[in-house]
Amino acid sequence: MNPDGIDKILAKYEYKDSSLIAILQDVQEIENYLSEENLEYISENLPIPLTRIYRIVTFYNAFSLTPRGKYTINVCLGTACHVRGAARVLDGIRIDLGIDVGGMTADGLFSLETVNCLGACAMGPIVVIGSEYHGQMTPAKVESVLKKYRKTLRKKDEKH
Ligand code: FES
Repeated sequence: MNPDGIDKILAKYEYKDSSLIAILQDVQEIENYLSEENLEYISENLPIPLTRIYRIVTFYNAFSLTPRGKYTINVCLGTACHVRGAARVLDGIRIDLGIDVGGMTADGLFSLETVNCLGACAMGPIVVIGSEYHGQMTPAKVESVLKKYRKTLRKKDEKH
């Protein structure tokens, strides 16, 4: 993001250091992650020590210091999901997307992560794509869900 974009966000929060988390959320929403360059800019302009910003960013799971795709896919590998075949679902996604856990597809559409229990064990195996929960997943089901996401995005691109 260029400095103008960050300045707009800082101005929205009146350059208040008490709004740091909200500022970081807004910046991340645009780029899907927080780059070192952007964090340095925020640090200089609030001003807040960079070490404090990094402490916050690394404390909250919602923040990412590495580039993430438009949709983060979280595969639950908790016990209940695991016994219902979560590992096979994860393998299916890895093959389908051609990336490993922690990776991002070349088109910037998907990132792949794993989690340990999302608190909805009865629906397992669960895969969360963006903010949508998909329960009772199988490798075949997840493949068709991913297809739908790709199709929806293609349609949006065609409109622009
Ligand atoms: S183990 Fe997957 S939701 Fe609980």
